[in-house]
Amino acid sequence: MAEVVWNYPTRILFGDDAASAVGREAKRLGIVRALIVSDPGVTRAGLLGPLERSLAGQGIESVRFDAISTNPSEAEAKAAAEAYRRAGANGVVAIGGGAPLDVAKVVRILTTEPLPLEEYDDAKGGDAKMKAEFPPMIAVPTTAGTGSEVGRSAVVTSATTGKKTIFFHPKLIPDVAVLDPRLTESLPAKVTAATGFDALTHSIEAFLAKGDHPMADAIALKSIELCARYLERAVKQPADMEARGGMLKAAMMGAVAFQKGLGVCHSLAHPLGAEHDVHHGLANALCLPAVLDFNRSAVPARIATLARTLGVRGDDEDTLAFECAGAVRALRHKVDLPDGLHTVGITEAHIAKLAKLAFEDVCHSMNPRPCTEHDMAQLYRVSL
Ligand SMILES: NC(=O)c1ccc[n+]([C@@H]2O[C@H](COP(=O)([O-])OP(=O)(O)OC[C@H]3O[C@@H](n4cnc5c(N)ncnc54)[C@H](O)[C@@H]3O)[C@@H](O)[C@H]2O)c1
Ligand SMILES: [Fe+2]
Repeated sequence: MAEVVWNYPTRILFGDDAASAVGREAKRLGIVRALIVSDPGVTRAGLLGPLERSLAGQGIESVRFDAISTNPSEAEAKAAAEAYRRAGANGVVAIGGGAPLDVAKVVRILTTEPLPLEEYDDAKGGDAKMKAEFPPMIAVPTTAGTGSEVGRSAVVTSATTGKKTIFFHPKLIPDVAVLDPRLTESLPAKVTAATGFDALTHSIEAFLAKGDHPMADAIALKSIELCARYLERAVKQPADMEARGGMLKAAMMGAVAFQKGLGVCHSLAHPLGAEHDVHHGLANALCLPAVLDFNRSAVPARIATLARTLGVRGDDEDTLAFECAGAVRALRHKVDLPDGLHTVGITEAHIAKLAKLAFEDVCHSMNPRPCTEHDMAQLYRVSL
């Protein structure tokens, strides 16, 4: 696969050996000493070596930091920032799923902005307080899900509130995203499926989000088409590089599209991650069908288009819209993901608190149908 370079809007390198270009890109950005932000699973999969060799090949020193969990905490981000300072680094190279990529973005905030981290919470207008003279960042995704490599936000769980907190600034977009399908080959089937559902949910929620944004809509639909074509293949044939590459593109495009906005599914997913440590993509997968049914009365034509893109046949718009949630359930089943929140230990007793937290989450402000806390409780209930 030949390397191609896209600038839409991020500089994106895509190709079978794209990771070997990390050193060259780091040099171009003026990085002389890099903090490599990763996590234990990525280190164990042996994915750091090629990056370190590529950096060393350009005379760039690097130090590893990989003490990061799947729902990363503020404490982990602070430890990473400390490692950055101790190493005397002047740039970050993040390799892994959304967790290390997001922590790397927070390292950029923590090492350049003077206020305590909670002051930069997006829900409190934190973006306006940032000078945003961030050190350069290269993002190398090893999951095909969050699209954080082209995203303007980072999500970590706040030490003060215990909530998943969003930090947002256009300049948080990494300077370069390096998409190398081979780096996702070692991803276990379950993680491939769950992260793929995060990508699919981004694109579906972006397409349904309020607002007039034909570019985001077009990108979202293409991303959904790629998920429909490649997710099952990537899960069942881990070495299928066409499928792996297709899912990396789908995930990246999902995050480009959700610049338009997300929706209530992400509001439901965030407390499941923060309170119950449910993987973010899995949380989305478990709530998405109920959300599609909930939104049907507000945007039936759009949901019919989604159904068609997911492969449902037929001409009658109402029938197509009705069948959309079923198509998502069928895909979830094909990739061996569980079919309800009960499988991750959620019961009726948890719903009141989860619904309160989901209602406080910002994502549902762009949902095509307004939702109350009561609606959120119902959505969790239907998803049990
Ligand atoms: N910034 C954003 O816009 C955005 C969007 C959605 C989600 N998120 C956040 O991203 C995080 C989840 O990210 P994720 O879904 O990519 O999961 P993740 O980063 O937690 O990775 C999941 C697991 O897969 C392992 N792994 C990753 N790549 C691997 C590989 N190639 N081979 C073997 N193992 C590998 C990791 O070690 C980890 O154990 C959550 O914290 C979520 O809130 C951020
Ligand atoms: Fe997400």
